[in-house]
Amino acid sequence: MRMNIVAGNWKMNTTVSEGVKLVSEIVEKSKDLSNVKLIVAPPFTHILSVGEKIKGSEIGLSSQNCADEAQGAYTGEVSAKMLADAGVEYAIIGHSERREYYKESSEVLLKKIKLALANGISPIFCIGENLDEREKNRHFEVVKKQIEEVIFNVDENDFEKIIIAYEPVWAIGTGKTATSEQAQEIHAYIRNVLLEKFGKKAENTSILYGGSCKPSNAKEIFSQSDVDGGLIGGASLNADDFIAIAKSF
Ligand code: PGA
Repeated sequence: MRMNIVAGNWKMNTTVSEGVKLVSEIVEKSKDLSNVKLIVAPPFTHILSVGEKIKGSEIGLSSQNCADEAQGAYTGEVSAKMLADAGVEYAIIGHSERREYYKESSEVLLKKIKLALANGISPIFCIGENLDEREKNRHFEVVKKQIEEVIFNVDENDFEKIIIAYEPVWAIGTGKTATSEQAQEIHAYIRNVLLEKFGKKAENTSILYGGSCKPSNAKEIFSQSDVDGGLIGGASLNADDFIAIAKSF
């Protein structure tokens, strides 16, 4: 069975105390949620305190990144092993902000995904085209290449642990969202690409939509058969909005 997932990507927002307050509200307000898995992805500095607050709840803990090396002299990096040890169960890998601002290539992303998997962490792998690629009608080939270069090189036995987030770059933080038809069209395409490589297992892959998802548009987007939830940025910083999005299933 495919899991419905709503994941909050806090990005570089909140202090530790603000993050703890936010997650406490999310825990409180999510008690009656049943058909959706909530995940929060706070900054590294918040992982232990946020992890403490969600203990005993069904909420999953994610990082927003992990190192592309296992350990050693890599100043400023945080390894997948350290994250797993701190209670992290998911890691957002390949967010468009990492690809664009930190020049993360498919080669680097594959190393990160393999290390996450080796440490029992489920990757939330982000893909998506920019505005120019969408306008030139190249979005299908762009996401296919992003998948082929990384996910096709993952061990078949690990494939089931992978979550995909389709996030058109032109919709992230811009207030513009893909229409539900655009989302369904490309999500179905992504699933087909995965089905051709991994067979029926891809029926169970959760494919999330991300990009200006909010309470007012989540229901329409989540109603599409190949949209299994959302990766939420801005709206995940407000507990009421985040829960309202999760209640859109
Ligand atoms: P947004 O961000 O919801 O603020 O557009 C989504 C994301 O980048 O994951």
